[in-house]
Amino acid sequence: MNEEAQWSAVDAYLCDTLVPSDTALDAALEASARAGLPNINVSPNQGKLLHLLARMQEARTVLEIGTLGGYSTIWLARALPPGGSLTTLEINPDYARLAGENIERAGLAATATVRVGDAVHTLRRLAEERAGPFDFVFIDAKKEYNPQYLEGVLALSRPGTIIVCDNVIRGGRVTDSATDDPDVQGVRRYFELVAGNPRLSSTAIQTVGSKGWDGFAISRVER
Ligand code: DHB
Ligand code: MG
Repeated sequence: MNEEAQWSAVDAYLCDTLVPSDTALDAALEASARAGLPNINVSPNQGKLLHLLARMQEARTVLEIGTLGGYSTIWLARALPPGGSLTTLEINPDYARLAGENIERAGLAATATVRVGDAVHTLRRLAEERAGPFDFVFIDAKKEYNPQYLEGVLALSRPGTIIVCDNVIRGGRVTDSATDDPDVQGVRRYFELVAGNPRLSSTAIQTVGSKGWDGFAISRVER
């Protein structure tokens, strides 16, 4: 077995053992596949990690950037207590509609709201609407725009807000300072910004699994 196959086999074992399958989550993935969405949703064990992190944070408000089919949205919305709310931002109206259906099927329509549009713009609108501060943020949209997302998110944060950013390793390409890949440049700039921001305490972790070699950045807003 090659390395990638081994990583996937271990993920399958972990998911079979620790992350029971679930009608609404399975239906969300099936509907996403049927509609031809890219198969880039978080894996089940990653979804549950996000869910547990949001619960550890005792989050009542969650902001997600990049809805896709709403799979991670469902994991995060399920972490919220009664009265909690999640706002998720999606630029593609077809994805947003499908995500809305998946969220509804999961019984979370009253908890999770999909906002359609360019997330950089929607983040500004949310600040104007005084929508923040959010307790927990998951950034998982166009990697090229991670720096702009971070700026928008910080305006919607408070001391104690947790910010998780997906896909920050990109198969190891993150270390290529000469890259002309705008996604890798976006991730590298994101790291520079969080590292240089005295409001933030940050780290990152590499992961291997069914999605290959990638990782998460995590920051806590300290002040
Ligand atoms: C891609 C995007 C993601 O959010 C992800 O988790 C994996 C891959 C991509 O655009 O390739
Ligand atoms: Mg991702």
